[in-house]
Amino acid sequence: MSDFDILDEEVRSCTLCTLSAKRTNAVPGDGDRKANVMFIGEGPGYYEDQQGIPFVGRAGQLLNEMLESIDLRRQDIYITNMLKCRPPNNRDPLPAEITACGPYLERQIRMISPKVIVTLGRYSTANFFPTEPISKLRGKPMSWNGITILPVYHPAAALRNGKLKDALHRDFQQIPELLDTDESADRSDPPLNTPSTTTEERQLDMFAPHPTEKDPTPNSDEEPCPAESGPKQMSLL
Ligand code: URA
Repeated sequence: MSDFDILDEEVRSCTLCTLSAKRTNAVPGDGDRKANVMFIGEGPGYYEDQQGIPFVGRAGQLLNEMLESIDLRRQDIYITNMLKCRPPNNRDPLPAEITACGPYLERQIRMISPKVIVTLGRYSTANFFPTEPISKLRGKPMSWNGITILPVYHPAAALRNGKLKDALHRDFQQIPELLDTDESADRSDPPLNTPSTTTEERQLDMFAPHPTEKDPTPNSDEEPCPAESGPKQMSLL
């Protein structure tokens, strides 16, 4: 059994938070475990919970269209979520749930060691850059621990708002270039954007506490993602 298989099994039998009690299936992740590009969403929805596979519902269909527009297929990428179990009624993740699930994501990132991570929506973006709203960060590739992070709007938000869909499509067009960039150039800093925090602060924010603000519309990426003064900090890559 590979380390990855062991991790998937741990996720499937995880009882670290209360979401485990109501799940049909945990959703560890899917795709190429050696992919150059990894996508991180928020948490499984109804169909994902039924099938144990991320992004198989409507948001997943839009994601597939976006991937096709840049000649990528699902089998070319690795995709997972911050939460591996479905929150009831697709509500936003709670800080305690994100904290409990964080180490799984951290291990996935370490094992895949992707060149580029695309964060889908405000919650997964806040994992890396908690102080700025997604509306400010989207479409701006940033360097984080030698990985290029590209924040984009969540496909579910894009399904509800045509402007966000256009922005999502535009932001996806950057992915091939980010994957093509010379390794040595890419793994240092310029020409990537720098958010208003320092590199050190950003590293310390890895899997740091998460937004608590409740948004009546799940995945409403128009809203900023406020940082929370919250519980523990996870270990760094
Ligand atoms: N939204 C997510 O964030 N993840 C999924 O797997 C499906 C919808």
